[in-house]
Amino acid sequence: MKGRRNFLKGSLVVAGAAVAGGIGRAQAADKFPPGLVYTKGAPGRWAGKEGTHAPKATLEGKNIKVVTPHSMSEKHYIVKHTVLTTDGKLIGEKTFAPTDTAAESSYALPDGFKGTLWVTSFCNLHDLWLTEFTV
Ligand SMILES: [Fe+2]
Repeated sequence: MKGRRNFLKGSLVVAGAAVAGGIGRAQAADKFPPGLVYTKGAPGRWAGKEGTHAPKATLEGKNIKVVTPHSMSEKHYIVKHTVLTTDGKLIGEKTFAPTDTAAESSYALPDGFKGTLWVTSFCNLHDLWLTEFTV
């Protein structure tokens, strides 16, 4: 299990780097290469799973709250959340364990930030999902 978890974390780093640096910043989330990043509007091979995999972001005061309404179990769970600016600056990240009861995380919004953020959620079985969130 630990080896698989490390593999998943490595995959996340590669996918995150592709999201942050390999794609032009002006592209909409739905225009990422098919099969790399899934969105509510472009769920690809995971069509029908967007409701439980696309992360939901809300602003609560000065915090960005991220929720993925996905079950958490040893065999199937949300591995990680990340929040990035569209030019690749990491705002925050949280790695989950399958024993966590919910895939929820919270991040401080940088002072004065206005613009679009990319919020990602990685499922160990259903890959990387991205939601754009504008503050
Ligand atoms: Fe899943």
